Amino acid sequence: MALELVDEATLDNSAIVANNAMNRERGYRGANSYVRELRFDPLIWLAAHDHGSAAPLRWLDLCCGSGKALVEADALSSVLFNDRLTITGVDLVAPMDGPDRVEFIAGSLRDWNPSGRYDLITCVHGIHYVGDKFAMLQRISRWLTIDGYFAANFDAESIRIDNQGSSPTKTSRALRHAGFDYDARRKLLTRRGYAEVQLPFRFLGADDRAGPNYTGQPAVTAHYASISS
Ligand SMILES: C[S@@+](CC[C@H](N)C(=O)[O-])C[C@H]1O[C@@H](n2cnc3c(N)ncnc32)[C@H](O)[C@@H]1O
Repeated sequence: MALELVDEATLDNSAIVANNAMNRERGYRGANSYVRELRFDPLIWLAAHDHGSAAPLRWLDLCCGSGKALVEADALSSVLFNDRLTITGVDLVAPMDGPDRVEFIAGSLRDWNPSGRYDLITCVHGIHYVGDKFAMLQRISRWLTIDGYFAANFDAESIRIDNQGSSPTKTSRALRHAGFDYDARRKLLTRRGYAEVQLPFRFLGADDRAGPNYTGQPAVTAHYASISS
């Protein structure tokens, strides 16, 4: 049976992306938390990379879900940063409002662009549901400050290149070449610093019927054709 790929607009209304069994309620620290999934503590990272007493700090969390982790982080951050840290969370279904320094934006990442750059960008188990994952990573790279940091759960097996099934080795190689670090065992993708990244692939469409990924939840695979240089 021929594979039916869908575009990103269709994905926004996909039952897989709206799956209400997915975990949207992680807290900041503890057993089921951002710190555990990201394998580092964003507030500690920000404190270590704080440029000084007056400079604002900006943290963007993509696919923030219920925003619980961000609200908890904000409560911990006011002492650390003297109210200089602002946190932005974006999700298809974001909360209506949050504390003063937490901004929630409801909408699809597909057509959202920030007004400035961020010191830290995180995405906890969100890229699994994005269609054109490479385009998303290219955009994220432009949203970082020069020495900003990006960290996300990422499954290299969710990328299909040139109709060859999953291509984790080719995917990791291309991402590393573009300046990302990929920890295949932990399925963590990171990068340091702003860049205009070009990944040499053309998006063909997404498959929201590919079944569960390593998290056990149904996820979205992204299909590409290589662009030869
Ligand atoms: C597994 S949940 C993770 C939520 C949160 N990061 C957490 O760990 O608690 C994935 C989230 O991605 C969001 N999402 C999926 N596709 C999206 C898109 N195109 N734009 C914005 N949010 C999206 C879903 O609404 C969902 O809240």
